[in-house]
Amino acid sequence: MKHQIIGLASDHAGYELKEFIRVLLDEKEIPYIDYGTYTTESVHYPLFGHKLAEAVAKKEVSCGIAVCGTGNGINMTLNKHPEIRSALCWDEEITRLARLHNDANVLALPGRFLSMDQAQKMVDVFLNTPFEGGRHQIRIDMIPEIN
Ligand code: RB5
Repeated sequence: MKHQIIGLASDHAGYELKEFIRVLLDEKEIPYIDYGTYTTESVHYPLFGHKLAEAVAKKEVSCGIAVCGTGNGINMTLNKHPEIRSALCWDEEITRLARLHNDANVLALPGRFLSMDQAQKMVDVFLNTPFEGGRHQIRIDMIPEIN
């Protein structure tokens, strides 16, 4: 994926993995904006999911990486926004297909269920796999519409 700036967001349960990814991006000199949370103090994941979704929708960042304990809560929040295609992923192949077929613009990760090593590989796949387009574009265009 062409990426200029990555948006990061998590709750307290995803904080540690978000920090790991933040350092990873620093090492790779990939620019990012971190929308929080910034400590392990208990917080509500929708606050951070909505912040990241708005940033992607406004093109303040080109895509996002979101983490909560299971990945589900923040993923559900993000997908309330019509511009967002957030994919809850747990391995490299699911991540690859989320880019190839779904043009996912947010990678949602289950922080309590992933090793750092696994997450690192998934982030690399997410940031470097292009969208296939074609028939998948037609399907993606249908997602925001109910009829
Ligand atoms: C926080 O304890 C946890 O519920 C949250 O991180 C997430 O897993 C919710 O979906």
